[in-house]
Amino acid sequence: MTRRHGFRRGDWESAAVRLDEIICAHSGEDPFEEALKLLVAKLAHEMDAPATVFLARRRDDAAVGEVNRLLRAAGERWRGVLEPGAATRLNGPTLMRCASVLDGVRLLENDMVGLDAIFEFMVTKAAKGQKGQYFTPRHVIGEVVAMVRPAAGECVVDPACGSGGFLRHALRQSPQCSVWGFDQDSRALRVARVMLAASGQTTARLMRVDSLRRPERRRRAGPASVLEDLMRAQEPEFRGFDVVLTNPPFAGDVGSEYADSYELARGHTVERDVLFLERCVEILKPQGRLAIVLPHNKVGAERWAYLRSWLLERVALVAVLGLGRNTFRPHTSQKACVVIGCKRPKPMRHFCDEEILFFISERDGKDHRGRLVYAPDGGAIDHDLAQATPLVRRRFELVQGKV
Ligand SMILES: C[S@@+](CC[C@H](N)C(=O)[O-])C[C@H]1O[C@@H](n2cnc3c(N)ncnc32)[C@H](O)[C@@H]1O
Repeated sequence: MTRRHGFRRGDWESAAVRLDEIICAHSGEDPFEEALKLLVAKLAHEMDAPATVFLARRRDDAAVGEVNRLLRAAGERWRGVLEPGAATRLNGPTLMRCASVLDGVRLLENDMVGLDAIFEFMVTKAAKGQKGQYFTPRHVIGEVVAMVRPAAGECVVDPACGSGGFLRHALRQSPQCSVWGFDQDSRALRVARVMLAASGQTTARLMRVDSLRRPERRRRAGPASVLEDLMRAQEPEFRGFDVVLTNPPFAGDVGSEYADSYELARGHTVERDVLFLERCVEILKPQGRLAIVLPHNKVGAERWAYLRSWLLERVALVAVLGLGRNTFRPHTSQKACVVIGCKRPKPMRHFCDEEILFFISERDGKDHRGRLVYAPDGGAIDHDLAQATPLVRRRFELVQGKV
């Protein structure tokens, strides 16, 4: 017999597990689809009502009508977020059970960290077997975007955008930049659409594509399935991105399909993050700025020395930020770092006098169970990455003047 999940109020992951459990136990419906609709209805409710009680005191049959009314309102407010005519497939009692999990919480509050955590659980569960789908914590994204500083008019991309965290922060930092998100997972893209819409950011353009498929594979893949083609269809003058911000998947089978098309894969067994690194450098304009989350071993392990040489030839590194082990908990305790740099106009072999800022985070804003840790005054998340931000910005100015 499976054990019922002990739901802990106020714990987002626990809320996600409980919603999933209720939907699976009381309906034969797809838990991702039904939870997504329910959360969109809840967001629409929060937009109009300061109260936090969702579906309060409704009779079971009235709950279905109310959720569908909210979904219609959401469909009108946030075009493209829901299928036309989307309606809940859950019955009244199941909706009321789900609503009780969401009572007392406001998803729009606190930079939507709760909503993000619920979506992360749903997307990773839906993509189980596909490793490395973990979203970057929003406080890490916020600092990285503040370091790289996308500017008005710049073309910014996340080629593995997941729930769109980097895109939202780029637009928040600079509403006039042109923001593009690509992901091969349609569910992740739907979540990104909801997150962007709920935060009032409607200019980001999101598309489904395998970002690792390179132009030279175009003929085999068909006309619209390469990122560059999708971009040129929208922006005929497209010649590359000014800024790439991403946390690509770390693991997963690459398959021989790509092996011969990537320099870094020739003669080496690699995982997807290595291909993404090469692809990110490829899609950047000369002097474009890059921030990519990578497994820690890429900056330290002897095995990856060839990768570091390859990268240093093409990118003037500005900084490497070592993230704490709790950063991606509760999903994984894998150590990761953010590699930040500026693409050289041409590969360069002699760069021995360049300085790189190394910063090791000692307060990662989460505890060993992956729960956010707040500063003693209860306000902001307790992390130390902000200390590196002015240093990285200064180094960017120096490096950009030189490359
Ligand atoms: C680690 S998650 C990161 C999500 C997001 N960048 C963030 O930091 O929150 C990686 C994302 O890459 C997507 N992905 C994996 N392989 C991909 C591919 N070949 N092309 C496009 N997206 C891919 C996954 O669906 C997932 O959403």
